[in-house]
Amino acid sequence: MKPNRTLFSESASKIYNAAALILISIVVCSMFLRETCSLLSAQDYSSEPKPKMSRGINIGNALEAPEEGMWGVYIKDEYFGIIREAGFDTVRIPIRWSAHAEEKPPYKISDEFFRRVDHIIGKALEQNLTVIINVHHYEEIMRDPLGHRERFLAIWRQISERYKDYPESLYFELLNEPHDALTSELWNDLLLHAIRVIRESNPTRKIIVGPAGWNSVYNLKDLLLPSDKNIIVTFHLYTPFEFTHQGAEWVNPSPPVGKKWLGTEGEKKQIIDELDMAVKWAMERGNIPLLLGEFGAYSKADMNSRVRWTYFVAREAEKRNISWCYWEFCSGFGAYDPRAGKWREELLNALIPKMGMHYVSADTEHGSISGSGWYYEGTYATIKLERTEFGFLILEVFDHFEGLNPEKDRIIDEGTVEIYVDGPREVKAIWRRDYTRLILVVGVIGIVCALLILHSKVLKIFSQIPLKIYFKK
Ligand code: BGC
Repeated sequence: MKPNRTLFSESASKIYNAAALILISIVVCSMFLRETCSLLSAQDYSSEPKPKMSRGINIGNALEAPEEGMWGVYIKDEYFGIIREAGFDTVRIPIRWSAHAEEKPPYKISDEFFRRVDHIIGKALEQNLTVIINVHHYEEIMRDPLGHRERFLAIWRQISERYKDYPESLYFELLNEPHDALTSELWNDLLLHAIRVIRESNPTRKIIVGPAGWNSVYNLKDLLLPSDKNIIVTFHLYTPFEFTHQGAEWVNPSPPVGKKWLGTEGEKKQIIDELDMAVKWAMERGNIPLLLGEFGAYSKADMNSRVRWTYFVAREAEKRNISWCYWEFCSGFGAYDPRAGKWREELLNALIPKMGMHYVSADTEHGSISGSGWYYEGTYATIKLERTEFGFLILEVFDHFEGLNPEKDRIIDEGTVEIYVDGPREVKAIWRRDYTRLILVVGVIGIVCALLILHSKVLKIFSQIPLKIYFKK
């Protein structure tokens, strides 16, 4: 008989084996679980960093045209990298879904169009951009809101279903600039239903809503929202319209070209008042996040004014914690020149300023002046007038530059000056009228006339003297 000890050690070794087996199983299981969890979390976007929406740009005139490309913009994949690289964190992609959905129930959106939008959203997300897709240029609903109500809701049902598993950095914006027959009252009701439709499949996705009356800040007071903490309110700012839309072909009557924006106290106040109005409205309703979804000045305005205006609006919005999206990337308001394949640095810097750089603007009423642009602090900007004299009889003569700092700036020659960049600088060529030539010409003509008169008088006198006097002798 084996001693008890052996018996004991036998049972002990069994226990040990069992314990080891359990331990190994726990380790294996926990490794497996860890693996599974990490697999799960790869799809769980909530663990990703919160999407950032602060500085954005609209890729306008592309997918909201009746067909992409019809208005001159076809979205290239590379655009999103270019936008990200420049420092934007958001793209707003206006989309005319109504041109790609059936007219009758079930109002199916074309698969081909959906695939194109999938592709574009995918490319934007790849670049870590927050992506806003909206319903843009649904003109028919502006004329007949009730007639298009079901179609609008069906469009949103399809969009919501399709993108319900997309990351939270995809935002939905209900409708661009509701206006005309789509009054505040009808819009309040429609937006409520559209939000309900979206919430069926996207319980927490960010939804952007703006007021009727073209998303004007003045109509915010009539906007009614459901209680939902994932709503962002948008508004547009194109003030003063005569400046931002000068020469705009789609506006009738089109405001005349030539209006500048100088950044006077009065001009700034108009913008500040609108932004403050939005902030006040949002605060009174529990601090609703705000998005300035569109602002921009058309390319027919002069570049110095555009830069001043754009810089001012963007900074004032930022001061108030309002996210913004510039209108727009590469078309008529474009901050990017698609032909040259590069940014219009003046506008890009106005949107996303580089540290230690300031804008120097040089203006003239006559001819052209070079040297406007962004310069690093501590450098000199050379401002040069192309010509210093214009006209024929009445001359426009360059007199002096206004806005010089006599201690720091350097006068190079008549019409050229070097400006020391110690902050934003504004220089203006001042001209005077010179009448010398006119006076000279008038004088000469006067003298000639006087001589002619004198001459004819003399002739007359001579003609009155009787001929016989001459021939007397
Ligand atoms: C419109 C564009 C227009 C822009 C500026 C946008 O909301 O959709 O067509 O160019 O506003 O007027």
